[in-house]
Amino acid sequence: MNRPLVRFLLLACCVISPAAAQRAPLPPGPGKDVVEAGCATCHSLSYIPMNSRFLTPEVWKAEVTKMRTAFGAPIDDDAANAIIAYLVANFGAPSK
Ligand code: HEC
Repeated sequence: MNRPLVRFLLLACCVISPAAAQRAPLPPGPGKDVVEAGCATCHSLSYIPMNSRFLTPEVWKAEVTKMRTAFGAPIDDDAANAIIAYLVANFGAPSK
């Protein structure tokens, strides 16, 4: 058995994976801070990239509205607009 290698792998598992899990998956851009503040309280921010490419601007708008009305996300109109602009710019599919 190659003991240094085993030790390295054990260490790599413990040290690297939690850091990777916590890294915000969002690209930089205007509104990113608002998204991080408003959209990470209930679920991981990775919900956003997971749904990107499918969602047109209209659907992102509906998505943010749903988070606010159905789930009670504490986001005011200004923040919602900033969030929608960010999502459409970074994760939006072309409008159909
Ligand atoms: C108050 C809690 C809450 C907040 C804050 C919140 N969400 Fe959600 N979100 C949920 C829940 C609950 C689900 C799972 C809903 C389901 O299963 O349909 C969800 C699911 C999603 C999904 C997956 C698609 C879907 O409709 O199920 C996306 C995308 C999403 N949220 C984006 C956002 C964005 C963008 C924000 C910030 C504007 C946000 N969420 C803020 C509660 C929240």
